[in-house]
Amino acid sequence: MPSRTGDIQTVTINQVLEDLDIVVGEDFAMGDFDVLGWQLAAKVRERGSHGYNHHGALFRPNYERGILVHSLIQKKGLVKILEIGFGRGYVTTCAANAIYGKGINGEVTTVDPFFDQQKLDNFSSVLDPAITSMVKINTMGQTSDHYFDSLHPKARFDFIFIDGDHRYDSVRKDYENAVKHIDRGYILMDDYHMPTKVEKDIDVSNFVDSLPSSVERKLVLTDRLLFNDDRGKTSDDLDYGMVLIPVGDI
Ligand SMILES: C[S@@+](CC[C@H](N)C(=O)[O-])C[C@H]1O[C@@H](n2cnc3c(N)ncnc32)[C@H](O)[C@@H]1O
Repeated sequence: MPSRTGDIQTVTINQVLEDLDIVVGEDFAMGDFDVLGWQLAAKVRERGSHGYNHHGALFRPNYERGILVHSLIQKKGLVKILEIGFGRGYVTTCAANAIYGKGINGEVTTVDPFFDQQKLDNFSSVLDPAITSMVKINTMGQTSDHYFDSLHPKARFDFIFIDGDHRYDSVRKDYENAVKHIDRGYILMDDYHMPTKVEKDIDVSNFVDSLPSSVERKLVLTDRLLFNDDRGKTSDDLDYGMVLIPVGDI
């Protein structure tokens, strides 16, 4: 596996929203993402941990990822979305809401080998039925490798979010498969870690840093920059983020 360099242009979510001409509180309500995050993404710190003792139990793990996806979809009119890695459905829901908000039909496909009924039931209970009447949601219970193997070579998406298995070979295959199925739009990859942040099986930056310089990309710092950070961190303290890769004339 190549080593990571951390050599990547970095922007904050605030700057990306400004470039998209999006105004927080006018183009979207922070509360909507807080509610969805609470239902589909919130986490609880372990009792006795540093965070639990010093900052509190409940936290908002990068709810801004939903805001980034929502904003790109809304401003660029993206309607065919592929997500690798469903989790509990936070980004799937943010993407579907964004398409619905444009008043157009669209499709969100989410691929995960570990769907379970409880997660799916919770996800369904959160989704407004009006949204699913306009936005088709396909839940594919398989690995991304199997999904791409069975995908028609001519299938095209305009947004692909890679957030599944974060080990090097999986990230590489997901990216190599993604580029075959997008002509214009964005690839977004979660969990890019700078060399200062080492976590087992999170090798996204090892792959991204080995891409040729001709692949335009930016690291978007997203975690608790719009929401208040209970840890008191600022964008200067963040050594991780999401990699945004524009494809075609977007
Ligand atoms: C971080 S979570 C995804 C969170 C979700 N994208 C969101 O933002 O709301 C990662 C997910 O990837 C799934 N996953 C693991 N290996 C995978 C694979 N080979 N293909 C697709 N998904 C995978 C896990 O089951 C897990 O649900």
